[in-house]
Amino acid sequence: MTCSVLVGGGWGDEGKGKCITYLCHYDKPSIIARAGVGPNAGHSVEFNGEKYGLRLTPSGFVHTGAKMFIGAGVLVDPEVFLHEMDYLNKYNVKERTFVDYRCAIIEEQHKERDQASDHLFKKIGSTGTGCGPANSDRVMRTAKLASEIPDLEDYTADVPLQINEALDEDQDVFIEGSQGFGLSLYYGTYPYVTSKDTTASTAAADVGVGPTRIDDVIAVFKSYITRVGEGPFPTEITQQKAEEMGLEEYGTVTGRRRRVGLFDMEMAKESCMINGATQIALTCVDRLYPECERSTDYSSLKPEIKRFIDEIEGETGVPVTIISTGPDLVDTIDLRDELL
Ligand code: GTP
Ligand code: IMP
Ligand code: MG
Repeated sequence: MTCSVLVGGGWGDEGKGKCITYLCHYDKPSIIARAGVGPNAGHSVEFNGEKYGLRLTPSGFVHTGAKMFIGAGVLVDPEVFLHEMDYLNKYNVKERTFVDYRCAIIEEQHKERDQASDHLFKKIGSTGTGCGPANSDRVMRTAKLASEIPDLEDYTADVPLQINEALDEDQDVFIEGSQGFGLSLYYGTYPYVTSKDTTASTAAADVGVGPTRIDDVIAVFKSYITRVGEGPFPTEITQQKAEEMGLEEYGTVTGRRRRVGLFDMEMAKESCMINGATQIALTCVDRLYPECERSTDYSSLKPEIKRFIDEIEGETGVPVTIISTGPDLVDTIDLRDELL
């Protein structure tokens, strides 16, 4: 039985969607549970030549044998959730996806307040998806809960009960975080952060799993860093330099151009420490070193890439077990067997 938590090590968009898809497709956990803030996330999943952009549904949906849950700590926008249930219908998501009845709801007014706020939308550069105002209403104890929404009636469940019972029966559980360490309300670049802590402990609490039950924490880092929205970015490079390096990117939810920077070792060390990371997944290695595109074999990597990986392991003290060399789930070097 293994209970794993996967979190972003940077400012989000590290490629968590890709890593989750890979891990769930091959490891086949019984339960995949979405933690994190809410539909401000945009996870990309590429599978069998098809591309999906997800905001609430767990990215592990490609493993059709799993029950999927959205934990009580996650904000639910019923419109987004119900749209995704239709959009992913061919994966039978309607029969196997459940929302905790205690999830707080994002209403139209939350989106309007987010987008009309000079502080949130302009200064912080929020995604405008209503997450900040909805979390603020939750703290004020005025937010509606999923149990009050008739459209969600068929989808509500007691998520912690289901997950903890599965763990008692020695089943595997996979918990998906969203956003990233640098966006944590506590440990990120405040005030240029999201409306909640984004580290592994909170991801576990989001779905109602206690810290003693977590076996593995996988922190995902991109080989370079990107950031959308405002705020400090010590290793940022100019857009011109990013273009020369072929590192131009646009956001999945907002379409905004992502700021780009070089790998930040100091941030990686702090992120691994506070997340209690036991493994690192390193993504987009092919974008920094195009010659390794779609490689699935560690021995074929050139010495420069191996030195980069060794340096990350040496500095953070955490093994790099997954190396992602392309957006599709098959474009992966899996070194987890070497840990055994
Ligand atoms: P958030 O929850 O928004 O933080 O999202 P995320 O971590 O799931 O990342 P997102 O999908 O927003 O952005 C990552 C982008 O990189 C997507 O376009 C992925 O398809 C792509 N991607 C992920 N891994 C790799 C990789 O190893 N190589 C390449 N070339 N692209 C990748
Ligand atoms: P909010 O979470 O929409 O309030 O946005 C606050 C900050 O977090 C802004 O800088 C957003 O760009 C950033 N942010 C929130 N969610 C994500 C994400 O999933 N990926 C990247 N940045 C995010
Ligand atoms: Mg994203």
